[in-house]
Order: sequence, then structure tokens, then C-alpha cells
Amino acid sequence: MIAQELVNTAKKLVAGDKGLLAMDESNSTCNKRFAKLGIPQTEEARRAYRELIVTTPGLEDYISGAILTDETIRQKAKDGMPFVKVLEAAGIIPGIKVDAGAKDMAAHPGEKITEGLDGLRDRLAEYSQMGARFVKWRAVLVIGGGIPSRSCIEANAQTLARYAALCQEAGLVPVVEPEVLMDGDHTLERCSEVTEDVLHTVFGQLYRQRVMLEGMLLKPNMVLPGLDCPKQETTDVIADVTVRCLLRTVPPAVPGITFLSGGQSAELASARLNAMNVSFKSRLPWALSFSFARAVQQPALEIWQGKEIFAAEAQEALYHRTKCNGAARRGEYYAAMENPVTLRKARKG
Ligand code: 13P
Repeated sequence: MIAQELVNTAKKLVAGDKGLLAMDESNSTCNKRFAKLGIPQTEEARRAYRELIVTTPGLEDYISGAILTDETIRQKAKDGMPFVKVLEAAGIIPGIKVDAGAKDMAAHPGEKITEGLDGLRDRLAEYSQMGARFVKWRAVLVIGGGIPSRSCIEANAQTLARYAALCQEAGLVPVVEPEVLMDGDHTLERCSEVTEDVLHTVFGQLYRQRVMLEGMLLKPNMVLPGLDCPKQETTDVIADVTVRCLLRTVPPAVPGITFLSGGQSAELASARLNAMNVSFKSRLPWALSFSFARAVQQPALEIWQGKEIFAAEAQEALYHRTKCNGAARRGEYYAAMENPVTLRKARKG
């Protein structure tokens, strides 16, 4: 019956117009983002910030699942309620990031391999007991001169597939995240070529390692030109190229695709997801959804600044981003949603 449970959970995570909230920054990444805003880099500050997120009024309107970390899944709100219970009470499915980070790959200058398979079976059993129902693992592919190499793509794909098989064995839905980074001056075409190659390789490995496609989700990058590429592209071109790349590589048995934001602005991430759903939604075999971290959290974090007096306003900003992305899932996001007057009305209404 594990198989049916996996299918049900995967479907629930991408149902309707809801998406995933990635709040699984490692302690060091979270501390770096805090440092930029002068927020203390302590366990208590991280706990307070994550409490702000999980107690955002109405979070469940557009969020189906939230991805926690090993630290966060063990933390509680001020009233003593574990975060997992706070999420469950709101009808949000708790998830957990289980990789141990992308490390320099030996003999592959500039490339990364994600670690964390050792002991994973036991960790999955513990997280399942704590209430997690889905899991995330991120692989990182860098575009540069002569990279990513075949060996890096294959090593990461094999690792993702081994992780996914272990998750399904434990009754947990794997979110498979091969991220082709935006860093660099590469063109849209080059990102498309690399993303297509990576996804082909990943699905080959998932098949070989007997991962049930109906019980998993894919979390890819959108296909974008590098941040330093002189030729940037329109929203519609990005939507077309991204969907074409996914149609060529992602089997229809996969229930959903939940994009990462990867350093795009919050508004662009919403607009691009929206454009894909406007043009293609009715013709696609899988749901096109979101699993953003920065593109949902960053405006809220900047308002909060570690100060309790700004918590309610930060929650409104977080809610607003989830609402914009819910609209983008329906293909009903429009730029005026970002207008400060509309925003204020939406907060009041
Ligand atoms: P971003 O949306 O900030 O890219 O984060 C998504 C994520 O979960 C990275 O692993």
C-alpha cells in the first residue's frame, strides 16, 4: 500500500493552485541571508523566523507542503507546539531536506556532487516518524567552459535516483531537484541544451533504479540565460523554451513539476510560471507548480529584519507572494497584483 500512499501524497502536493514552500535553507545559508540584513545568526533567530513563516495566517490557501531542515523539524513555536504540528493543523504537508549539501567534486574543478546517502535509510525512518511525508535532495550543475562534464551529470543523476528509491522504500515522496545554476554568461540556448541533457540522464537513472514516477515530483530550474548573459529574453520566450525542454524529457507519469526560483526576482518567477500556465496548462501531462524559497521568502525577510514589531507585515508579504504564485498556477497572475495600492487593498480585503 506504500505505492498508493506515495501517489496520493504526490498528487496532493500539486493539487489545485497550491505549491510548495521551500524553507530548508541550511544553517549557513540562512545565516548568510540574516547577516546581510543585520539579523543575529543564532538558533533562536532562525527559530523565530521559521515560526513567523509557519504561523502566517492563510498560508494553507496557496501552500500544500513545506520543506523543513533537520534543525527546523525539531523546533517548536513559542507556545510549545512543534512546527510539524503547526503545519499539520493548517493542512500543510511537512517535508524535509535530506541532502548534506553540494561539495566540490574530486578531479572536476568547478563542479559539485551532492553528499548525504550514507545512513540515509535510518534518517528517513526517523523523519517519517516525526511526521514528514515528502523529502528533497538538490544536485547542482554549473555551466562554464567545458562543464558540466558527463561524469558530473551522471554521478549526480545516479545519486538522485538512489536517494529517490530510498525515499519511496520509506513511504516518502522524493522531490528530485537537479538545479542548473543561473550563474555565468551562457545563453538561453546553452541552458536549454544542458537542462535537457541533465533531465534525460536523471530520468534514465530513475528508471534504472526502479523509482515509481507516479510517486515523485521533479523540481527543476526554469530554462534561463545566465545572469551575466548580455542577451536576456522575454517572459514568453522563457516559458516556451522551458516547456519544450520539459516535454522532451519528463515522462507523463510524473504528477508534477515544482520549479525552484534560483535567484530570479520574486516578480519574475511568478510572471514566468504564469506565462507557462497561460500558454500550455491545458495541454500538459503534469502540473506546473512552484517550490520557491527566495522568490517567496525574500520580501518578507527584508521587512522582518529580525524584529518582532515587523512580524505581521512580513507575514502579509509572505502571504502575498504565495497568492501571486497561486494565481500563476492558474494562469491568472498579472503585474498589477504587485502594485502597492492593489497590495494594500488585498491585505485589507
Ligand atoms: P530557491 O527558490 O531560492 O532557488 O530555492 C529553492 C530550493 O529549494 C533550493 O534548493
